[in-house]
Amino acid sequence: MSLQFEKVDVLIIGTGLAAVTVALHLPPTLSVLLVSKHERTSTNSDLAQGGIASSYLEPSSVDHERDTLVASKHAAEPDRVHTLVEEGRTAIQELERFGIPFDRDETGYAVGREGAHGQNRIFHVGGDETGRHMMATLRRKLPDHVTVMEHVLIDTLTKTDDRVSGATGFNGETRLHVQAGAVVLATGGIGGLVDWTSNCRSVTGDGLVLAAAVGARLSNLSRIQFHPTLLAVDSPHLVTEALRGAGAKLVDASGRHVMEQHPLGSLAPRDEVARELTDHTGPVYLDTSRVERIGERFPKLMATCVAHGIDVRRIPVRPGLHFHMGGVGVDAYGRTTVAGLYAVGEVADTGVHGQNRLASNSLLECWVFGKRVAAAMVVEEKPFTVNETTGFEVSDDLFGRYRQQIGEWLTISPHVGKIASFLENTQQLARTKHVTRQLSEQTLSLQAARLLAHAMIRTEDTYEQDCFTRTADGVST
Ligand code: SIN
Repeated sequence: MSLQFEKVDVLIIGTGLAAVTVALHLPPTLSVLLVSKHERTSTNSDLAQGGIASSYLEPSSVDHERDTLVASKHAAEPDRVHTLVEEGRTAIQELERFGIPFDRDETGYAVGREGAHGQNRIFHVGGDETGRHMMATLRRKLPDHVTVMEHVLIDTLTKTDDRVSGATGFNGETRLHVQAGAVVLATGGIGGLVDWTSNCRSVTGDGLVLAAAVGARLSNLSRIQFHPTLLAVDSPHLVTEALRGAGAKLVDASGRHVMEQHPLGSLAPRDEVARELTDHTGPVYLDTSRVERIGERFPKLMATCVAHGIDVRRIPVRPGLHFHMGGVGVDAYGRTTVAGLYAVGEVADTGVHGQNRLASNSLLECWVFGKRVAAAMVVEEKPFTVNETTGFEVSDDLFGRYRQQIGEWLTISPHVGKIASFLENTQQLARTKHVTRQLSEQTLSLQAARLLAHAMIRTEDTYEQDCFTRTADGVST
């Protein structure tokens, strides 16, 4: 099997808003690699319809904070929620500086409303195609020090001592080894594990597995949100809650308002609406007869209904899996409990959602906490680059172990897996500065073994070159 090696400062697993936000906020001195399991656009962020919540137009973030806590059943962590909404106040301006053209009308920003929000504070782009427009614009802004690789499945995080130091997986069918100063999990949620979901099919909880395998703490995994309104057709599509914010009502077959008992009616918190609809016997529809300019404001919905032959004034809906509130436990800067490993976006449990996420707080979370992850990396962890001073020096003990490993694969029937793990274990060695003859000698023989190992498994030429130019003393040969 052929092998590919990459060496970067920061590996980000994912290409949605959380991943892109981190990448956009890392300095050009760091090499950054983003990987996506399928196409870069196969993310939940690209599918986001309603928009991004922000109290930018309000006198303060107090009301947004209260709505978030109430929707969470007061299970969210108040200080984290404060961070989300307070730092979220400037998100709209920041995104505009990156070229995001939020929708406007004659009154200014055309802000919408969704379930459990006491105010119109949902900023959107292209009506109900916010995610697609935002992601296309932001991805175009990714600078040269950021590389994106598609069709990369990461299946294992690697550790050196107690620190995550890279990952392995497949690039297409080629086995891929990435050595990284730090790894960010931005793999999204879990919706793709089931059929009835608003999520992208490829979002199947990979980040949870990767984190758990290296001993990172997971939290609140059972907190799962169901969206009340997926289009009740064979292949589910989200019908945005913004439609209810614009006046649509949930009705039964006879036209009776299904949420009439709730003080917030059809705009009740989405867990309560989803529960009500699940318990309801018989079909439920969104009556959109009171929604003005529906085709203009909800072009994606319109096109989907037309494609399925559905009358847009009476849309059949049913609940489906939408969002994972729990995930990889992180601090306020996205740091997991394992050094060198960060998590951001839906895969992370930042504590801002509690039992039930407030609508349109997820894109906001990606932006606010994505920036924080980048800031933490720059301030606290630099330099990431594995350079001559951060490489390990081989001790007699370690050298003995590596010699033993070499003996296991440098045989008449070479074992590809053992070669690969030897190469992985000794990656940093190539950059080590050696101060004694013995160390130098030992390192040279290990480097020779690395050259043989590369040749035996026919790795990329570029990596062999890399190996040659980083000798024990950092002198090119
Ligand atoms: C929606 O548009 O209804 C979904 C928005 C969200 O989940 O935040």
